[in-house]
Amino acid sequence: MTTSVTPAPVLALEAVSWSVGGVTIVDDIDLTVREGELLALIGPNGAGKTSLFNLVSGVTRPTAGAITLAGRPVHRLAPHRRARLGIGRTFQSSSVFPTMAVAEHVELAARAVGARRVTAGAVTGVLERVRLAHRATELAGGLSHGDKRKLELAMLLAPTGHRDGPRLMLLDEPMAGVATEEVAELTEVIRWLHHEEGRTLLMVEHHMDVVLDLADRIAVLHHGTLLADGAPETVMAVPEVQRAYLGEEI
Ligand SMILES: Nc1ncnc2c1ncn2[C@@H]1O[C@H](COP(=O)(O)OP(=O)(O)OP(=O)(O)O)[C@@H](O)[C@H]1O
Ligand SMILES: [Mg+2]
Repeated sequence: MTTSVTPAPVLALEAVSWSVGGVTIVDDIDLTVREGELLALIGPNGAGKTSLFNLVSGVTRPTAGAITLAGRPVHRLAPHRRARLGIGRTFQSSSVFPTMAVAEHVELAARAVGARRVTAGAVTGVLERVRLAHRATELAGGLSHGDKRKLELAMLLAPTGHRDGPRLMLLDEPMAGVATEEVAELTEVIRWLHHEEGRTLLMVEHHMDVVLDLADRIAVLHHGTLLADGAPETVMAVPEVQRAYLGEEI
């Protein structure tokens, strides 16, 4: 009989909690993201999704538990160290510089994580991957919300300390603020990153049609605890999940 060694998941949270002012916001979470997987993290407003992203990216540190990246503990590292190890993150509210050109954002993002020289070709290459190359010289302030979201993805993909871009992308509500007619194209960009580039993604998203379209697996957070974690159809059939969402926009 042959034994196979299962590689460490890209991301693992082990009994992770985060309390602030005596209130437990993230409560004893066990969660893994495997190589090449797109895991959607869903849950009602205030469930603790962004708080969990903050713990993974290093904005905050867990009050209990451990977070590992490819088996290596990272939960005590500063955000920039985690970024260099390959944890890339977008924020719930759009974070582009209105008076700076699109291409400059990509350059800035690359330099921010240690790249010394960023060629115009490399910048164009990144913009092409998110379908934004045709806007390279425009100011970011004039972009539609959907294009701003694409630019944020480009900034994550910009050459990082980790070869070939981030090994884990955390997307906090990539569709937030995006007009309905732009959702499909943004979904395609994320699908490309996931399927064609084989990237590993953890995505918070309230648009359930996008979640069900893209996710390999869904984890449901509710009052800081993990309510369910599994295949989309299984998770959505769990009565507690349906109850947690009753009357809520998800
Ligand atoms: N720094 C903080 N201090 C105190 N409470 C906080 C802090 N950050 C978050 N919270 C609280 O933690 C809870 C979870 O917030 P969080 O932003 O993680 O939710 P979320 O699931 O991302 O919600 P949404 O879907 O609305 O973005 C909320 O009740 C919020 O008020
Ligand atoms: Mg949030």
